[in-house]
Amino acid sequence: MTEQRHEHCDFLIIGSGAAGLLTAVKLAPHGKVVLINKGGFSNSNTYYSQGGIAAVVDEADSVESHVADTIAAGAGLCHEDVVREVAGMGRAIIDELVALGTPFDTLETSLDLTREAAHSHRRVAHVQDATGKAIGQALLRHVDAHANVRHLQNHVAVDLITSARLGGSPQHNTCIGAYILAPGGEVKTFTASHTILATGGVGKVYKVTTNPHAATGDGIAMAWRAGCEAMNMEFMQFHPTCLYNPQGSTMMLTEALRGEGALLVDRGGRRFCFDYHEAGELAPRDVVARAIDHEMKKSGSDCMFLDARPIGEDKIRHQFVNTNQRLLGVGIDMSRDLIPVVPAAHYMCGGIRAGLDGATSIAHLYVIGESACTGLHGANRLASNSLLECLVMAEKCTARVLAGGSLPERKAPQWDTSGIRPEFERVPIKHNWDEIRATMSNYVGIVRSNERLRRARRRLHLIQEEIMSYYWQHPVSQELIELRNLSIVAELIVRCAQQRKESRGLHYSTDYPGTLPAAVDTILTPGTGTP
Ligand code: FAD
Ligand code: SIN
Repeated sequence: MTEQRHEHCDFLIIGSGAAGLLTAVKLAPHGKVVLINKGGFSNSNTYYSQGGIAAVVDEADSVESHVADTIAAGAGLCHEDVVREVAGMGRAIIDELVALGTPFDTLETSLDLTREAAHSHRRVAHVQDATGKAIGQALLRHVDAHANVRHLQNHVAVDLITSARLGGSPQHNTCIGAYILAPGGEVKTFTASHTILATGGVGKVYKVTTNPHAATGDGIAMAWRAGCEAMNMEFMQFHPTCLYNPQGSTMMLTEALRGEGALLVDRGGRRFCFDYHEAGELAPRDVVARAIDHEMKKSGSDCMFLDARPIGEDKIRHQFVNTNQRLLGVGIDMSRDLIPVVPAAHYMCGGIRAGLDGATSIAHLYVIGESACTGLHGANRLASNSLLECLVMAEKCTARVLAGGSLPERKAPQWDTSGIRPEFERVPIKHNWDEIRATMSNYVGIVRSNERLRRARRRLHLIQEEIMSYYWQHPVSQELIELRNLSIVAELIVRCAQQRKESRGLHYSTDYPGTLPAAVDTILTPGTGTP
């Protein structure tokens, strides 16, 4: 058997995307930070962020207008106090990112702000069309230069360690750390005064997604298993324009393209978005994704088309450098050709119920970034509000952690490997992965119904039974950990969708096409509800 180890730190941060990285930068001067991720920086949603970060920096714009746009996109479900606080911090976040070395695109004397759908002003600060990568690289330079930060790559968090799991009262549950699978295959015990989950989204639960492999909902599933509530997980955002490329790899095509003039057309060249919303291609994302889905179903086509020609060659070459290069790589010249597009699973608006400071119902456990649900996005996130939320949460979480005092170091039991037998084949894991993604894509996509959700729930229940019996009898591996988590977040999405007896924002049900007068969050509590 392999050697087991224990390590203690002040701050254990799980996830090094925008949320985790800025938190590490801010906490580093105050104690020992262990920052872990399950792949390099490129295996995070942050790395792939294109359009930019929404913030009121232009004199002609106002926080009031950013608030109004966010609330309108959120279909009545946003928490207005949260929206105000986040929008109000936009300028300060941009200033901080600039101070930390983010090279935002500029005009002569000001930031070059781009426009995205459902924003009534140019408000999106960007670094060409690869904003997340640039922000992350700036933050990484600080993280990796600080002596207090141990940045462990390719380490996979398995489960949280809580006082309730160790026999304490569930009413006064406290997080004391996490079990982490190290690259050699051993599960180590990390204890910490404060544990911060910043593990990103859940896109891999669907077959077609803009998200990288890391997005398997690990933090959401871990926090749920530990006893935290999940909120609004029916609101999976589908990005309207993902390259349709059945022969090869796909990519998201930033909404800034439409902001700068690109059009959506069918095979015959007809613009169809105005049939669905007066803002046409610049309608909120849920409307545009549903419009594309509907047009595809109506015409039996595999895709619709993005026409980027109105943007002009000059802007394409300067602002959309990466998009242009990658499209050229698959034989599409966006200055001349139409780009085939389909909607793809993109962003989880729900997550673990948390304050803007990341605080959860478990003491000393915080959930930040895309894994958290703060009430900012409501039923549909406004474009480019996510990076902003990640960074605001990092700021606020730091303040909360520092005000929270430290926990005395506590020994936790080592990972139990008794009863584990060798794994002879991995194929059951692969099959279950495929089944979950097919189930979610077939039954819990852009348009839902009671019957589709029932079918999904039944299938997921069966798959979960198989996973659980496999999980406790075989050594943990990254694939198995992710599979278990994927099955849990899939179930949470379906259960939330079943609770919502209306259509609102990203959740559209053919059985309840209308919107109820009162907007109410969906909240799931562990240990309640039918299995
Ligand atoms: P992530 O950046 O996803 O980071 C998650 C981290 O957690 C990773 O380091 C991962 O390795 C780690 N991790 C996960 N599970 C484990 C585990 N079990 N153990 C250890 N580590 C783990 N938003 C905008 O505001 N503007 C945009 O322009 C924009 N464009 C986007 C484009 C694309 C293609 C995508 C996919 C998203 C885009 N978004 C955009 C959304 C935004 O990028 C994300 O919501 C945001 O980056 C999430 O940041 P995060 O820090 O919460 O998580
Ligand atoms: C995009 O660039 O279209 C993505 C923006 C976002 O998801 O916020």
